[in-house]
Amino acid sequence: MTTGKPGQTTKPGALGRVTFLDGRGELPLLEISTPWSTAEIYLHGAQVTHFKKHDEPPLLFLSQCSRFADGQPIRGGIPVVFPWFGQREGLGQHGFARVKAWDLKEFAPAPDGSVSVRLRLPACPEAAGFPPFTADYLVTVSQSLTLQLIITNQSKDAEFTFENCLHSYFEVGDVTAISLSGLKGLNYLDKVAHFVEETETRDALRIASEVDRIYLNTTGTVEILDPRLGRRIRVEKQGSASTVVWNPWIAKSRHLTDFGDEEYERMICVESGNVASNSVSLAPGATSTLTVKLSTETLK
Ligand code: BG6
Repeated sequence: MTTGKPGQTTKPGALGRVTFLDGRGELPLLEISTPWSTAEIYLHGAQVTHFKKHDEPPLLFLSQCSRFADGQPIRGGIPVVFPWFGQREGLGQHGFARVKAWDLKEFAPAPDGSVSVRLRLPACPEAAGFPPFTADYLVTVSQSLTLQLIITNQSKDAEFTFENCLHSYFEVGDVTAISLSGLKGLNYLDKVAHFVEETETRDALRIASEVDRIYLNTTGTVEILDPRLGRRIRVEKQGSASTVVWNPWIAKSRHLTDFGDEEYERMICVESGNVASNSVSLAPGATSTLTVKLSTETLK
């Protein structure tokens, strides 16, 4: 196991580099650079807040109004939603993993220039209502960004049922100009219309109003075509049966205190996980891995 302190860096001369800093709100931050890209990960929520290929705009949207404080979620990047998604009576939205300071277990700059960081959710009182489990998060930074959320049920006799979701916020040039493909033919729960179930009929989804949809029973790749930024974002996944698409649009943006009134124009969430009827039930001793690979391609 390797641990680090603010100001410490990996060996000079290594191709990939990890620097430990105090980030915003004095929350511990890992700054990563590779031959192709830079990234930032807060231990708070194990949240990746930045990924950028050297010759491209940032991949991830991060709100100018985000809070960076204990107990508060960061608005943007990739919140880790676990062990539940959405509202749960008497409990905070989207689980507690995104508001806990995760432990850094290991970081490994590899000979090929990539850098991997492994984090673990610490024991916390909120987990007491669940069977014992471990939650590890492996982030690999290279030409692309790969995220793995690894949940193991440590109970000897109880099943562990949970939801998970890597809630990626993507930076886009103009949300009304993008199109999302890979969702045609899927059933979705429309949260904007009281969870009514609908079927996606369009080859390409365009955004022109508030969108909050849970696409069910889908393991497929989603692509975001962004003509304004001249790129295609690819969201590939394994161990995920749901995709959530969210943009708060005008009225909801005004209600979110940690989100700018006009920021909805520059972002789209395409989230990969297992939510609602796709929740995961893990047998005692079993492990589930949710893997998401985010990559980009410049449009010719
Ligand atoms: C999405 C949900 O995943 O997250 C939306 O489908 C929700 O309903 C959004 O509004 C943001 O949630 P929060 O808790 O980060 O404001």
